[in-house]
This record gives sequence, structure tokens and C-alpha cells, in this order.
Amino acid sequence: MKRLLPLLLFALYGATLRAAVPEPLLLPRPAAVETGRGTFRMTRKTPFVAEDAAQAALVRSFAVVALGYAPEVTVAVPRSSAVRFATDPSLADEGYRLEVTPGGIAVAASSERGFLYALQTLGQLLPDARAAEWRVPAVRIADAPRFAYRGLMLDVARYFIPKEHVLKIIDAIAALKINTLHLHLSDDNGWRVEIRRYPRLTEVGAWRVDRPGVPFPARRNALQWEEATVGGYYTQDDIREIVAYAAARRIDVIPEIDIPAHSNAALAAYPCLACPVVDKYIGVLPGLGGDNARIIFCAGNDAVYEFLQNVLDEVMALFPSRRIHLGGDEADKYYWALCPRCRERMRAEGMTDPEQLQGYFMKRLAAYVRRRGREVCGWDELTRAELPEEAIVYGWQGRGDLALRAARQGHRFVMTPAQVCYLIRYQGPQWFEPETYFGNNTLRGLFDYDPVGADWDPAWRDLLLGVQASLWTEFCSSPEEVDYLLFPRTAALAEIGWSQPDRKRWPEFLGALDRYVGRLAGAGIVAARSMYNIQHTVRPLDGRLEVRLACERPDVEIRFTTDGSEPAARSAAYRGPVVVDRATTLRCATFRRGERMGEVLTLAIGWNKATARPVEGLGPQGALLVNGVRGQRNSDFEWCGRTGGELTATVDLLREEELRRCTLGTIANPGMGIYLPREVLVELSSDGEHFVGAARWEAPADSLFADWRGVRDVVLDLGGAAARWVRVRARSAGVAPPTAPRPGREAQLCCDEIAIE
Ligand code: ACM
Ligand code: ZN
Repeated sequence: MKRLLPLLLFALYGATLRAAVPEPLLLPRPAAVETGRGTFRMTRKTPFVAEDAAQAALVRSFAVVALGYAPEVTVAVPRSSAVRFATDPSLADEGYRLEVTPGGIAVAASSERGFLYALQTLGQLLPDARAAEWRVPAVRIADAPRFAYRGLMLDVARYFIPKEHVLKIIDAIAALKINTLHLHLSDDNGWRVEIRRYPRLTEVGAWRVDRPGVPFPARRNALQWEEATVGGYYTQDDIREIVAYAAARRIDVIPEIDIPAHSNAALAAYPCLACPVVDKYIGVLPGLGGDNARIIFCAGNDAVYEFLQNVLDEVMALFPSRRIHLGGDEADKYYWALCPRCRERMRAEGMTDPEQLQGYFMKRLAAYVRRRGREVCGWDELTRAELPEEAIVYGWQGRGDLALRAARQGHRFVMTPAQVCYLIRYQGPQWFEPETYFGNNTLRGLFDYDPVGADWDPAWRDLLLGVQASLWTEFCSSPEEVDYLLFPRTAALAEIGWSQPDRKRWPEFLGALDRYVGRLAGAGIVAARSMYNIQHTVRPLDGRLEVRLACERPDVEIRFTTDGSEPAARSAAYRGPVVVDRATTLRCATFRRGERMGEVLTLAIGWNKATARPVEGLGPQGALLVNGVRGQRNSDFEWCGRTGGELTATVDLLREEELRRCTLGTIANPGMGIYLPREVLVELSSDGEHFVGAARWEAPADSLFADWRGVRDVVLDLGGAAARWVRVRARSAGVAPPTAPRPGREAQLCCDEIAIE
């Protein structure tokens, strides 16, 4: 014991020292990191030592990718310290061990990707690629990914992303150890890959009419004689270049040819492949397409299968990926139900439901792909019919639960749920974001996502290949807009794809992210700063309003003013909810070390007789109507919505008041199926039971489904009547006409505020 004591003390001392060295900030965070003491001094001249010539060539090419230079790689044992590579078959696929000591660096892996990822990690340990000598901190890293599939989908159909920019994105995701790039190559809005046998696919299908300044969902379809000027496509050489560039970074490129729907671009080129009952002009759609989105490949025409097989032959020749994605999403069967050929096919195959016809269609083409030794992928709509053999299902609807239907049948699946992983959604407080679809998918939301449900059958876990972030590009029209949506959120995808849940730490992730974002900037990619912006919630509380402010980043402080002035580093610090009892302009922003980090949020909080009063009829949502804050976007959390019918809210003013005017805030956004009300009624009561009509407003008939977007106040004169309760009844516009962007759908009615004066 006597002899052991000094050793023990030394070990404890060492442990204390070790704990004092912070873990390096790495993205994604490795499985295990143990910091050591000292540094390894490394220069571009430091030799790399491989086991044999083949490994030497591999290491050299990976170093160029991961470190940005070609080191001298030898198979001889050098005299000086070095970076040594060794194969260790006991390590997991894609896993690696990286050990830095003052005497050198040792790298071990069992697979090519393992060696690449070790070098990517080493690249993150180097402080500055331009310095003559780097001090690499002593560290021992044992790492392996949580999921085998870590993917990014780029929709190059809605917006044609130029090849050079795709290559830039490949570099950016390679640094994150993302191993799959899913290219959505065809849709209603464009066909993006040269097919030699069918030149019209790109001569016609790659080009659409321009609708400058009009957001995607509101764009009118093309007329037959309009010139199509927007688009582009990848030549076969371009595709080979993209595939080779990705392969050098060990990224698998999965091509998607979306069938049978999302096919207007292909059908514009070859209209004979649509159902013969389609009696309208088929053009490449500039937007949603309205009724034209129902035009899909005819499932009863054998020429369609032959055509698609020929297309897939060329696609498979271009893309060596084991996996080929056949889409299968959102197929409206309107024409199939009318088409004599489709009906005959259903009769011949003993089918009663057009969903079964899609099952037949997908299975037939999937079998063709499988016979050529490839695996078939498809969106989760495949689960609506019999699944193609061995198909890999991509769960996207809602939180991806339809993919579990596939898992129950023993199918492998990938999770890319729209409500988390769709990068088209808003990434931060919406008032600061460029217009897009739907709700928020923030950086934090993606970071917190665990695709494995706590209640899952363990077998499903084994069938889950991994996760994917998917970027639909309806709202993109430049590479910069693509970057803005991709970054930084793609880094959070990498983290959830790679790191074990118990290794994820939000502050550490942000620290590593900041370095990554800095390196992206060096490569000419500007990431969004939405994570620095402030999300407000304003709620009535005991007759006053409680204002809560939140920022995703914990390493900033929120400062605010209430006198209308610009918030500054010395403005009041936000420490908890701010209570407001009169009209107030609250302005706030985030700061770090005296520097403003995000946008200035200006909350113009109004005050009237209804403000902060109880509202009945809409549940907790009703509070939004009396919170003094006006909405700007229909999805910005300030709106009460309902689809069809009538929206009814009753405000209790808590005492009898003389009433001059009632204003109802509404919004129209035809592209999203949101329209102004058809009619608004105001009824008054002094006892809360008997209500009498006091005012009525009716929309002019020709304005109901007008092609107009914006916020609109409906003002009703109450003529000085006295009442305590005010009931507002707003009737929805009804069913959208055939010419609307979303025809045949019940209009959605959205209201943000009831003001009573
Ligand atoms: C999809 O978002 N329609 C796959
Ligand atoms: Zn048909």
C-alpha cells in the first residue's frame, strides 16, 4: 500500500488535469473522447505512414478532401514522428480510432469510410489550416455512427441547383460525415437529367415559364404559347462528375425519378404517356399547378412502363448507387378513375381500388430495378398498397409514422419527417424569414429529434437505416437561398445521424457549429443566423398581457426597450416574462459580449376593450384574438384558423361598455388555400345568454376567391350600443373554385385579433 499510494495520488492528479482539458468541439460529436496532455506539432511535411500502397493512395486522396492538402504518404517507417494508419478489423463499419499524443498520431479503422472520417475529425482538431505549424491537442477518440444512413435530399427539380453548387454542398456535408445524397431529379416543375433516348425530357421538360416575384404556390400555370425560360439540367457528363466527386468523399448519390405523380415535366415532353382522358394542355408547371397536378403517368398503357424502364436503364448506368428512389408520393388518382386503359388494367388484374393500381405500378417498375441488382426506395405512400419486394420506405408525412407500417411488414426504412426534417419549413421566428411553407422546423427541433420512438418494437430499430434532412426548393431561386435553408440545420441532421442520444449536448453542439459555420464561410457558403432571433409569445394573464421572449441559443442575452428605442447592449436584460397593461412597443434583440447577434424584434402591442379579456369558443387558441399582437404570416403563431364552416368567438368585456366599432383581423393567402371570410356577424349580449345581431359585413362576391394576398381588417360599426359580451361569427369563403391554386378544397379562414373600441 505504501508503494501504491504515490501512484494513486499521481493517477488522481492526472485525472484532475485531464478533466481540466476541455473536450475539443467536434461535429458530429464522437462516441468517446478522452483528452490528454500536451500537443503534437504537425506541419504539412509531417509524414503519413500507411500499411501498403493501396492504403497509401486512399489516405492521400482522403487527406486532400479532409485536410485540404496532399501529405507525403509512405509505407516505410520514418525516423520522425508521423501520422500512422492501421487496419483494425475489430472496429465497426465507418468507425475509427484516433489517438493524438505528443509523439505522433495513430489512426485505425476497418473500412474506407472509417479512415476518411478519422481524417475529417483530425481536420477539425487543426486550429487553422493556413498556419505553418499546427498544435494538435492530445486526445483519444473512439468513434462510430449511430445510423448507417445519414442523408441529405436536394430537390433539384423545383429549383435547378447548378452543378458547381451541388459540388460545394457535397464538400460541406462530407465534413459532417453525411454519407448519402438523395437527388430528387424529376417533378412537375422540371426534369433535370439528360436521357439520351428521350431528348425531349430535357429539351421540353427542363424548362418552365417565368412568374417573377410570385411565390411558388400562387403561380399561374403556363399557357401553351408562353415561352419557357427558367430551368436547366445536368448532362450525363455532369452527373458522372457529381457522382465521382461524391464518391471521392464516400457519399452515395441516390437518384430519384418520381413516379407515377409529380410528372408534369416528363408528360409535357411526352403527353402520350398521360391517360388519354386528359383533355388539357400539359406544360411544365411553374408552381403547384392546381388541377394539373392530377395529371400523372397512365398506369394502363404498357408504353409507359417501357418508357420508364428505358429511362431507368440510363439512370442506373449513370448512378452506381445500390439504391434507386422511385418516389411514389402524392398521386391523385382522378384521371386513373376515368381512364379506360387504367380501368381495363384494374379489371384485368382484379383490382377494385385505384390505390391497388398504384401498388401494381410501383411493384412492376420496382421489380425491373431489382432484376438489375438494385434496391428500390420510395416515399411512405407506398404503404397504402402492397409494398414492392424489399422496398426501403422513406417516412415523411407528419412525424413519419407511416414508415412504421412498412417496418411491421419487415421493410427497412429511413426517417425524414416533414415536421422535423423538411428544411423548406421556417427555421426561426417567422417575421425574419423569407416566405415559405407551413410551420417551423428549427435547428433545435432537429437537434432534439430522436427517430427511434420509446414505444418501438426493437425489430423496428433494426430496420431503421437512419435519418435524412430533405430540402424541397419551391421557394428557392438562387444558390444562396439554398444555402440559407441547408445551413446550419444540416449540421443538426449530421449530429442526430451520427451521435448517440446520450452524447448530444446543445451548448457543445453550438460551439462546434460555430466553427463549422466559420469554415463554411471560408468556402463561400453563408449560413442562416435565425438561431439568434427571438420568438415571442404574448398571452393574457389576469387582465394583463404576459410577454415571453425566447432564443434557441443559451449563450446570448436578450435585451429590450419599451420606449420605442433600438435595443442596445446596455438596455434592460430580459430575465423573465414582461407584464404589460397598456399599449406598448417592446423592442428586443440578442447580444453577446456587447455585440448584437440577431434581428431586432419589434412587438407593437395594441390595447383596446377586448385586450386580455376572456374568450370563449376556441379553446386556448382564442387567447390569440385578444393578445394585442397582430400576425404577419398565416403560420406565425398569431392566428386562429379553421377550415370551412364558421369561426365563432365570444369576448367577455367583464363590464357593460359603450361600443363603437369591432375590427376582425383576417388574412388571405390563396396559394395556401387561405381566404378572407364570406361574412362576418357581430352579436351583443348583456347577460351572456341572449345575443342580438348588431352588425354584419359581407365580402363583395367578386372578391371572395380573388388572387390577392395580405392582411385585411374587417371593420364593423356598432353605433355606440351597450353590451358586456361580444360574439364575432366569421363564415369561411367556401370551396375554392377550379381556377384556384388548391381547387376543390374548403377555404381556410384565419383571424389574428378582435379589437373592440
Ligand atoms: C413529399 O414530401 N411529397 C415526399
Ligand atoms: Zn390511364
